[in-house]
Amino acid sequence: MPKPLVSYDATNMMAKAVGRSGARPQELRKLSKKLNAAKKAVLKLSKTKSQGWLALPDDEAMVKRIKAMAAKKRRFTTCLVIGIGGSDLGARALYHALDGNGMDLVFAGANTDPDELACLMSCMDWKRTLVNVISKSGDTVEPMATFLIVRDALIHAVGKARHAEHVVATTDAKSGSLRAMAKREGYDTLVVPNNVGGRFSVLSDVGLFPLACSGVNISKILDGARRERDAFMKERPNVNSPTIFAALNFLASVKRGQHIDVLMPYAESLRQFGFWYRQIWAESLGKRKDRKERMKNVGLTPIAALGATDQHSQIQLYNEGPNDKTVTFIHVGSFSSGLRIPVSVKDIPKLSYLSGMKLERVIHAEEQGTAEALRKSHRPNGTLVIPTVSPESMGSLIMFFEIATAMSGELFNINAYDQPGVESGKRAMKRFLLSR
Ligand code: PA5
Repeated sequence: MPKPLVSYDATNMMAKAVGRSGARPQELRKLSKKLNAAKKAVLKLSKTKSQGWLALPDDEAMVKRIKAMAAKKRRFTTCLVIGIGGSDLGARALYHALDGNGMDLVFAGANTDPDELACLMSCMDWKRTLVNVISKSGDTVEPMATFLIVRDALIHAVGKARHAEHVVATTDAKSGSLRAMAKREGYDTLVVPNNVGGRFSVLSDVGLFPLACSGVNISKILDGARRERDAFMKERPNVNSPTIFAALNFLASVKRGQHIDVLMPYAESLRQFGFWYRQIWAESLGKRKDRKERMKNVGLTPIAALGATDQHSQIQLYNEGPNDKTVTFIHVGSFSSGLRIPVSVKDIPKLSYLSGMKLERVIHAEEQGTAEALRKSHRPNGTLVIPTVSPESMGSLIMFFEIATAMSGELFNINAYDQPGVESGKRAMKRFLLSR
């Protein structure tokens, strides 16, 4: 079995490294029954098809459909991706991380700020633009309001008869206003599987179609995800990385009140990945009630940080503020560029140690230094290691966090797949809009 591309170094999460603010091995041992049960529950949801995200890497028909649609729309140079939450953050994260040789992706619909949309629309060349509007429900106000405005501009530019060629709607197979509109207007459509929730949908048509348009190899993303998924299925929970990650963060929360989980990749290309993580962790694990309808107000608060940037911003707090967090670094083994600092800095005494040094060595040392400083301050921290930023490793990272989220949901005994708190906000907003 090919190994997953993400490994987890949890040394600094343990009491041996950080004292009483870390986990003791016996805590993990005591959790092992719960971990076995959690894995069984996650696999059962997949087997009974009540959750479809774990099976996405095997969906060859989906890959064929997406590639065929991307080929059909090849003549466009830009793809305007309209969506919010799970219908936005995954494609954004992967596009930011990966290089493609196809269309440029531009994102809209994740806000209703009129100035932002007006500014973006003023630079669009509509004749060369494909619009991929994504909404599982087909009725979400932010993307649908954006799409209605964009559609008007598109019709104005290319005519009512031709505008349909410029649109691909990704939505539920049967229900919702977007599906109805696509039927009425003759738009090409893709499907959000009904057993895959928004924040678990990046490896479906939702995330993979825009990425295929951008020229990223989506089969490789799925290969990476499959490797991580297969390891989860085959390994014992007490050696499986995303399971250990979930277990240690669960223990940190329930045993030591460390309810805040910082993710700090040391790579600019992973900046947007932090926002995808923030959604899946927050929306899945922040729940008022457990599965027995008992009031629990469970939740782990995710923070998206970035190395080395946040060493000069957040790290002061993480090091010396309340000991209520765990920090997870993402270490990129090697970067594509071999950029070096010029040897000429030898003339500048205080900087001469940098002379001729690879910039990669600097970022690695910064990460190591931060981890060591946190350890010394008894702040639990762990490191996810990927060899490079590649379609395969990004697929593995996505699957790693999907598994960790699902396992955490089981450990907290909550439903990780609903979002009643989001829905109540949507209802309240609608009342305000209708009351004018
Ligand atoms: O994870 C989720 O379910 C949400 O974040 C949704 O993705 C988000 O609310 C957008 O919903 P929709 O795709 O229905 O427009």
